[in-house]
Amino acid sequence: MAEMDSTVKGVLFDLDGVVVFTDKYHYLGWKKVADDNGWNFDEEVNHGCRGVPRLASLQVILDHNKVELSQEEKERFADKKNEVYKELLKQINAEDVYPGVIPFLEKLRNAGIKMAICSSSKNATTVLDALDLTSFFGAVITGNDIEKPKPDPEIFLKGAASLGLTSDECIVFEDAESGVQAAHAAGMKCIGVGEAAHLPSAKTCITDYASVMIPVQTP
Ligand code: G6P
Ligand code: MG
Repeated sequence: MAEMDSTVKGVLFDLDGVVVFTDKYHYLGWKKVADDNGWNFDEEVNHGCRGVPRLASLQVILDHNKVELSQEEKERFADKKNEVYKELLKQINAEDVYPGVIPFLEKLRNAGIKMAICSSSKNATTVLDALDLTSFFGAVITGNDIEKPKPDPEIFLKGAASLGLTSDECIVFEDAESGVQAAHAAGMKCIGVGEAAHLPSAKTCITDYASVMIPVQTP
């Protein structure tokens, strides 16, 4: 059971792996690039790519394989991964939404709690629109809106400011270690989504949104 106390006025959600299972499509995109090049890439290496921008994710895979590439080659492979990812996104549907997340968003909305998406992905708005989720969120901050990636706090500070809230009033949901660190660096509470073993900085982890108690708002 994870509890949100009554000081929480806003919830900042990461997107991939938190609201939708697009993390599996990011994985498949990198897997295709890795397989084409004979690089080793598995679920364990993929944990290091969660929450990490495109080129930096490629670097995680290259470092794991001790491969060096020119900047031009890196950009070509990152573009290739994005093409595969965008192709996979064409089949995205309601089954890709994290189970229990829509009832949770509805509960938050009914409780008057503000919500934002804070995702490093430059494809985040495409995903939200395709699944008709955009209207839940008062702000959507994506990889197109930030200069410094997670674990820098920039994305969450922007999310809170867009909702008109302070860090103290926000809680973050994250499936990436870099994202949990970014939330803490922003001075926010954070609930990890996924197994605690992959989220060492998270004090609380959930795999089921029904286990999150939301605060009763006092008028
Ligand atoms: C999210 C995902 C990462 C992905 C990043 C950039 O943070 O968790 O796996 O690399 O977004 O996504 P993009 O769609 O811009 O390549
Ligand atoms: Mg994520």
